[in-house]
Amino acid sequence: MAHIVSTINLKGGVGKTTITAALAEIMAAEHGKRVLLVDLDPQTNLTVYMIGEAHWKDLNDSDRTLATLFRDAVEPRSADGLFDIDAALQRDVSPVRTVTQVDLLASSLDLIDIQDRLLAPSGEFLHDPVELLARQIEKISGNYDYVLVDCPPNLSILTLNGLRISHGYIIPTVPDFMSTYGIAQVRSRIAKFATDVGVDIPAIGLVISKYRSEVTLHQQMADYLQRTGQDDGLHVFESRIPESGDIAAAAEFNDWGTLRQRYGYKGQYDALAALTVEFMHLVESS
Ligand SMILES: Nc1ncnc2c1ncn2[C@@H]1O[C@H](COP(=O)(O)OP(=O)(O)OP(=O)(O)O)[C@@H](O)[C@H]1O
Ligand SMILES: [Mg+2]
Repeated sequence: MAHIVSTINLKGGVGKTTITAALAEIMAAEHGKRVLLVDLDPQTNLTVYMIGEAHWKDLNDSDRTLATLFRDAVEPRSADGLFDIDAALQRDVSPVRTVTQVDLLASSLDLIDIQDRLLAPSGEFLHDPVELLARQIEKISGNYDYVLVDCPPNLSILTLNGLRISHGYIIPTVPDFMSTYGIAQVRSRIAKFATDVGVDIPAIGLVISKYRSEVTLHQQMADYLQRTGQDDGLHVFESRIPESGDIAAAAEFNDWGTLRQRYGYKGQYDALAALTVEFMHLVESS
């Protein structure tokens, strides 16, 4: 059975998408894992990161993104719906030549409008709007070791669809006041949702992201999180992901030769690789 994990934080721009992408690529290339990426964010960052904009547009024009899955629920255009998981599933997607075995269900900008309509179901609404993704993922999750779900920076109905299928979640955060402010809230909201739907969705851990070791506040905040996290029952990953121009540049859809080339030779890739080992260890031992 696949381990299904969401990446989530209400705070935007903290590295959720970057970390999700790197975990998938490193698990596949270095550890032989079969990984499915699910991009639930209407910003489509993870999708473009993995397949580029032209390919995304092609998928979007031919109803092969997750927008079609959710649109089927609010605007039935045929009895069975238009979403076809086999057609939508993009295989071997990373632009890094050494990465195989990463597949993707792409997102779409169209989800911005569709998600509002999911909240205001019409009389003909047939399904629980939180179960829509689950009903598709269960058809294919057996083909993977990991399913990683990249969520938008909110607890929208799209995010709830991701949490619904998840066995746990990770929270990337920048170690500063504004970024860490909402962590307790996101945890309690997810715990309440899990209770409501009758499943267990534990926090797997907090990832310190965009870490600047020369900034005293970052050091103090990261150390503080590491100390207090233990009291709160929240694991904080040992590996801190440095803020780095190379990691920012990794978002470019390019013909990357290797993962080190994509993420950086000066310790950036090593930090991500160490995070990946810690992540797999935690997930597989729980
Ligand atoms: N470790 C890092 N060092 C430098 N830049 C980074 C790092 N991680 C991510 N970035 C950059 O910061 C920006 C935000 O990162 P990312 O998109 O991964 O965050 P996010 O939490 O997914 O954002 P959103 O909430 O909008 O989905 C991007 O431009 C990304 O390239
Ligand atoms: Mg993102």
